[in-house]
Amino acid sequence: MRYGKSLLEGKFVLGPMAAYTDMAFRLLCRKRGAAMCFTEFANANAIVRNVARTMRLLRTCEEEMPVGIQIFGSDENVMAEACRKISRMADEGTCPASCIDINFGCPAGTVVRAGAGSALLRNPEKIRRIVEKCVSSSSLPITAKIRSGWDSDNAVLIAKTIEKAGAAGITVHWRTAKEGRKRADGWQSVAEVKKEVGIPVIGNGGAYAPEIAVRFLQEAKCDAVMISSGALGNPRIFERANMLLMGKKYEPDSWASRLEDFREYVLLAKKHGIMSAKPLRAHAIEFLKGQPGAKAARRMLNGAKAEEEIIGVMESFSPACNHSSSSDMNM
Ligand SMILES: Cc1cc2nc3c(=O)[nH]c(=O)nc-3n(C[C@H](O)[C@H](O)[C@H](O)COP(=O)(O)O)c2cc1C
Repeated sequence: MRYGKSLLEGKFVLGPMAAYTDMAFRLLCRKRGAAMCFTEFANANAIVRNVARTMRLLRTCEEEMPVGIQIFGSDENVMAEACRKISRMADEGTCPASCIDINFGCPAGTVVRAGAGSALLRNPEKIRRIVEKCVSSSSLPITAKIRSGWDSDNAVLIAKTIEKAGAAGITVHWRTAKEGRKRADGWQSVAEVKKEVGIPVIGNGGAYAPEIAVRFLQEAKCDAVMISSGALGNPRIFERANMLLMGKKYEPDSWASRLEDFREYVLLAKKHGIMSAKPLRAHAIEFLKGQPGAKAARRMLNGAKAEEEIIGVMESFSPACNHSSSSDMNM
């Protein structure tokens, strides 16, 4: 399927995650079979004001294409200006991108209080104005990522509004903004959107394992499934889901494969000049998740200041299969 201006070669894509989906992690997930990735959301206002920290979030490279650049905001004029700027950067080749993705789903208090993210789900008319303005200001296709509603399912109406406003694709996270993560599945709402709109639909929410991702894709009959938290520390979820979809068996998870992926992340971060202790530590903790005996290593990681120290903790760790406690297994 086509998403934005790119043709996707697979059915599973990496979702945007603040503080995690940096360029090295996106490249790693692409190598491990993700058909597309998204940058973490960037504040449209800060893009327009050229805030250095935000501009760094927009860094992408040809090698990782297809990639979507995600923005959030509440003022259609500011968001349109941000789209104009990103399009210009993409045209100049400094920021390769398949689309600009607008966030209508973030439930975080600071974002909602600013009238952005999922707060906009309460106001489809405003969503329409934002998408229309962004479409008319951008040479890149505009896509949107929504939750199914604010506190009740309104996904079809919102998706139709977004399509009518000129968007080239939509990602639907089937949970509402007000509900937590307790509900395990609910992709019926994605299936309903898919039946009602003509643009490509990516389903999202709860695809924590290859088996769930494949079932989601087949039952919701959407064009692709977005995997977000399930890919943290576990980028091979994409190649495993790809294999499962082809009816093949995949190698079970192992510490050796996780360490190999962590090393690859380090190489990619160094190669692209984005190596930094904070994201490296965050990813290291994710790679350790579920490993027996990881508690002590995690404690060391939390105290580690330098990148080499973090790498050292990971290199010297080995799963303590014989003396793991069940609580440690769930880290
Ligand atoms: C740490 C973290 C950061 C996230 N940041 C973003 C973000 O920047 N933009 C966005 O649209 N969604 C963000 N999300 C939401 C995910 O992309 C996804 O919609 C949600 O986690 C449900 O998918 P999952 O069940 O596969 O994790 C974030 C989620 C997590 C866990």
